[in-house]
Amino acid sequence: MSAMRIDGKAIAAELREKIALEGKKLIDETGVTPGIAVVIVGEDPASKVYVASKGKAALECNFHSVEHALPATTSEEELLSLVQSLNEDASIHGILVQLPLPDHIDEGKVLELILPEKDVDGFHPINVGLLTTGARDKALVPCTPSGCLIMARRCLGDLNGKSAVVIGRSNIVGKPMAALLLSENCTVTIAHSRTKNLPDVVRGADIVVAAVGRPQMVKGDWIKEGAVVLDVGMNRIAAPERGEGKTRLVGDVDYDSAAEKASHITPVPGGVGPMTIALLMANTLTAARRAAGLEDLDYAALLG
Ligand code: GUN
Repeated sequence: MSAMRIDGKAIAAELREKIALEGKKLIDETGVTPGIAVVIVGEDPASKVYVASKGKAALECNFHSVEHALPATTSEEELLSLVQSLNEDASIHGILVQLPLPDHIDEGKVLELILPEKDVDGFHPINVGLLTTGARDKALVPCTPSGCLIMARRCLGDLNGKSAVVIGRSNIVGKPMAALLLSENCTVTIAHSRTKNLPDVVRGADIVVAAVGRPQMVKGDWIKEGAVVLDVGMNRIAAPERGEGKTRLVGDVDYDSAAEKASHITPVPGGVGPMTIALLMANTLTAARRAAGLEDLDYAALLG
């Protein structure tokens, strides 16, 4: 069997288009322009690439978009004071502070200061709590897991009773992904670096979400025939075949061997990554709509 490649780039482009239309409707009907502020501290090259893509997507959606690029020497107090001013800025509906932050800044303190209703990353403990206590509809849900869920549902329809293995237990992906799959009535296993017999654990899964940050770790012979494989990994590895000093981006899944077993699989790049950014726009629109007293949109349904 050769898997269907899930074209995250195309699905994300369609979603951004729908969001732009809905954003325009919101502006026409209420005068509210969705606004997002992205804050980056320091010079991490990968973070800079992500932040640039977020700004570009926001402009494409005709959102009001501001970026605050602060030096690595920024104090915790200065960052907290910026977040506070964004909390108070009525033109900003979504605040995203790019992670990781420099070591001298307490990440938890910063994330907890962001107003939960502006927390478009879904990292505030209030949003985490809403998601895990079954009030997902009131939360802002982290973007990468939301994007993965939309893709899984497009492949499988109803996820009731499916067995899902999430590899990785980060607050950004693994834990919220598990919570979302659980809310869809999957039987969920969270695997991590201490998991024994990981290949055997993965072999039981109808849905595999790989978010460990280890290049091409998940091999084809770990994958159950017909499983859906979602690869969140973004690993830069040496690519001497492309010339001296060249690199390429690979996921946490060994794509070629896994594609022989899976029914559907996301490529890297062009799979989960673009969906994450589209869902950030979706969360920003949701935050703006809620601020205007409007109901949430169903983005999976908008995609049709
Ligand atoms: N760093 C890696 N992924 C993310 C993300 O989704 N949001 C933020 N804020 N930082 C990240």
